[in-house]
Amino acid sequence: MAIYQRVRDAADASAIHGLNEGFLASGVIIHPHTRRLDLSQTRRDFLRRVGIAGGAGVMLHSMGALGLTSAHAAETPPFTPLKMSDLGRHGRKTVIVMGGGIAGLTAAYELLKGGYDVTVLEGRGRPGGRNWTVRGGDTYTDLKGRTQKATFSKGQYMNAGPGRIPQMHVTLDYCKELGVPIEVFTNQNADAFLYRENVPGALNGVPVRQRAAKADAYGYTAELLAKATDQGSLDQYLTAEDKERLLSYLRSFGAIGNRVVGDPAASFKYNGGGRRGYDPQPGAGLEAGTPIPQYAMSDLLASTLGNYFSFEMGFDQAMMMYQPVGGMDRIAYALAKAVGGGRLRYNAQIVEYHNTVDGVEVVYTTPGGTKKIVGDFAINTMPPHIAAKIKSNLPAAIVSALGSVSVTNAGKIGIEYDRRWWEEDFRIYGGITNANTNLANMWHPSYGYHGDRGTMIGYYNTGANANFYGNLTPPQRLAEAVTQGKKIFGDVYGKGITASFSQDWASTPFSEGAWVGWPGAVGGQTGTGYRSLLEPTGNVYFAGDHLSHAIAWQHGAMVSARVAVESLHARVTAA
Ligand code: ALA
Repeated sequence: MAIYQRVRDAADASAIHGLNEGFLASGVIIHPHTRRLDLSQTRRDFLRRVGIAGGAGVMLHSMGALGLTSAHAAETPPFTPLKMSDLGRHGRKTVIVMGGGIAGLTAAYELLKGGYDVTVLEGRGRPGGRNWTVRGGDTYTDLKGRTQKATFSKGQYMNAGPGRIPQMHVTLDYCKELGVPIEVFTNQNADAFLYRENVPGALNGVPVRQRAAKADAYGYTAELLAKATDQGSLDQYLTAEDKERLLSYLRSFGAIGNRVVGDPAASFKYNGGGRRGYDPQPGAGLEAGTPIPQYAMSDLLASTLGNYFSFEMGFDQAMMMYQPVGGMDRIAYALAKAVGGGRLRYNAQIVEYHNTVDGVEVVYTTPGGTKKIVGDFAINTMPPHIAAKIKSNLPAAIVSALGSVSVTNAGKIGIEYDRRWWEEDFRIYGGITNANTNLANMWHPSYGYHGDRGTMIGYYNTGANANFYGNLTPPQRLAEAVTQGKKIFGDVYGKGITASFSQDWASTPFSEGAWVGWPGAVGGQTGTGYRSLLEPTGNVYFAGDHLSHAIAWQHGAMVSARVAVESLHARVTAA
């Protein structure tokens, strides 16, 4: 079971329900404040015990009896994979999985563990959906008819879709289970650059090392807060002891000076220092190194550079992060292999699907003609805005829910160079350079260090920037990326380019966008449309990252697929 789930359970338990205090040996929970029987805890604990003893099927059946299987249940129960013995007297059931992306492959893989008869229909000629690694020899034509043939060298690749995996995501559990080796993906690098243009002040158009901007942002913040604290501005919030402890923390946080008795202005001064970098660096003998002087506070604030550093605190963006060795699609191919070639139908474009009296039927086209397949159930993992356009006999409200999403675009370009200039010239080994130009993010590769060539993600952008590049031809995209990149790295950004490939998700068949959002409050996943898709419609279930609180992550696709499998299996075994 994912660590993620355990952590969430623990947090729920201690923070919300006071589990530690109230948990009695008998398994009955007394609410810590009311001292009454806490029914929610009793049920939860009961379900855990049932889950451990009887597996997912038994647990879901029990949850049904308690009225907890709906989308309104407060937490996802731990996932217990199906076992071959689970189906027993219920006989073999056939499931048609619509879409061979990460959700579809995960659903198929988990259903097979329970002895289901599974067929996956996938429109593309490969598994993985948006999990797509482009290598030399790959040919691709987008919806606007633009064809690219990738000419990356052997061993070079770009992850056109997902490229990084947080530690707590079940994606890593599947890597382990399927034997997909992983390596570090460097999501934060103090020595990569930040670049801001069209801002007031001296930092306009100046590439800045992240460590310098961060040291200054932390340093000036610490200085101001220390001064305010010491001069009594925060006395209504802090005791005398709090103040001294806060000052101690701020000295460490911002590398600021001490109190200068009788001189408040000179106290707690931020004067730069080694954490922002040296020129020259500390070296042998008498070479102590010279810290690069700090930027003026006003320039730093005007530049907005300090705003970048919240990124590395993000729950799903914080280091450490990981990637499969050799390309993200190693996950897709490992899942596809485990599902088995005979169960995967590629180049199968779904054009129609129906609930029937006792099952489902799905019509799809192949290069060899139109075909129909019937099954007991379907799990529809297609992007919702595409599923909404496909002919079906689903109720209008469900079709409308599928079509209610807002679609976000994203774009990437892979640029292969004949030398790793970011390592050789700038000492940047992996990580992200970020700009407020249309490039947005440049990823320095987290593989192939010190090799004789390397592939940068020359831009990774979203929204309007992605649409801007998406409207250009591939050669125009490269030219624009080089123009923009030169502002940060100089001419080297355009020299020694041996291959490039650019991806625009909005014009990608079977995706038509990078990811979706739901209308409404709290990220959208509260509305009736979203909730209606968490339940089966007749014999059709829905799954995908769009039906999770981890949209745009493979984790979301995987946990959503697991829930659909559990729900389907509970229904079958309850019959
Ligand atoms: N999960 C995607 C990323 O990390 C959106 O960029």
